[in-house]
Amino acid sequence: MEKRVAVLPGDGIGPEVTAAAVKVLETIGRRFNHTFHIEYGAIGGNAIDQFNNPLPDETIKLCEKSDAVLLGAVGGPKWDQNPSELRPEKGLLAIRKHFDLFANLRPVAAVPSLLHASPLKEEVAKDVNMMIVRELTGGIYFGQPSRRTESAAVDSLVYTRDEIERIVEKAFELARLRRGKVTSVDKANVLESSKLWREVVEEKKKAYPDIEVEHALVDSCAMKLITNPAAFDVVVTENMFGDILSDEASVITGSLGVLPSASINGDNFGLYEPVHGSAPEIAGQDIANPAATILSVAMMLKYSFDLKTEAAAIEAAVNTVFEDGFFTADLASPGQRVLSTKEWAAKVVDELDTQFVSNSIMFSYV
Ligand code: IPM
Ligand code: MN
Repeated sequence: MEKRVAVLPGDGIGPEVTAAAVKVLETIGRRFNHTFHIEYGAIGGNAIDQFNNPLPDETIKLCEKSDAVLLGAVGGPKWDQNPSELRPEKGLLAIRKHFDLFANLRPVAAVPSLLHASPLKEEVAKDVNMMIVRELTGGIYFGQPSRRTESAAVDSLVYTRDEIERIVEKAFELARLRRGKVTSVDKANVLESSKLWREVVEEKKKAYPDIEVEHALVDSCAMKLITNPAAFDVVVTENMFGDILSDEASVITGSLGVLPSASINGDNFGLYEPVHGSAPEIAGQDIANPAATILSVAMMLKYSFDLKTEAAAIEAAVNTVFEDGFFTADLASPGQRVLSTKEWAAKVVDELDTQFVSNSIMFSYV
């Protein structure tokens, strides 16, 4: 297979974690006889510095001629005081909108060898395996009007029936490949947009009689994510609720540094990025955990290129490296040897070069 991958390292630890993930992608190419053409583009703060634009036209063109995009992270204190059009986050929102990446998939699966780092009791966290499906191109992030004056500000939460239908369908389809349960999260006791959301879920579920559907109010869902997270399979929700709940869920597994994400459109074109941010406080020190970005490459192989065996090979390699007790600083126990970003990625590469390739893996992160 021959594919073009646009890599947008971004800011902070973005360049370090994407460099690690590119090494893994190249290893997959070598081992499985695929050619990945990799080209780099600017986004976020570094794009503001170079082009005075968080998403330059050059970057859009590069992504348009690519088959998938790998992104590091955007943002940092350097640009915090910028006007809203010149903030790094604008670049991320603009690329999501430009490519209509409406479905944001954020898998959260407990990894036995990382449970020691979970803030929850081991028996609560150990069976967690959920997929958060976050609507990514609508809702309050994009609704108009959105503006402020000296004494007031307004943001608008708008959803159309079509926008809700396509994300809900995505959630049902994913549930069919998993444990067959969908939890739809809203605030239907207060918000009009949530009442429409719930109505659409009720209509759509008629076409999926094999799927168990439950509705949860976002506040109560936030609580259940802590008290009984293993009860969730697919969680589908609107943009901002998904933003908040996915950060909450992410720590269950021990570290935000392990969670990948996919943002895909109707043609399975996707942007793949770690859930964590640019972590400017540790940038440039070669200490960030590259696992989330490496697993984002696994998601790219699975969801955009339909290379399931190759994706499973990455997951198995990551799992083995954890099981062998190799950790970056975020996950190491006191007194344990700490690996750098580069060293940890090299372990995954070694593992991929030597592993016995099998289609059956113990469990899936992605
Ligand atoms: C995320 C991030 C972004 C979001 C920010 C950086 C705009 O928090 O991907 O979850 O809010 O969507
Ligand atoms: Mn977020």
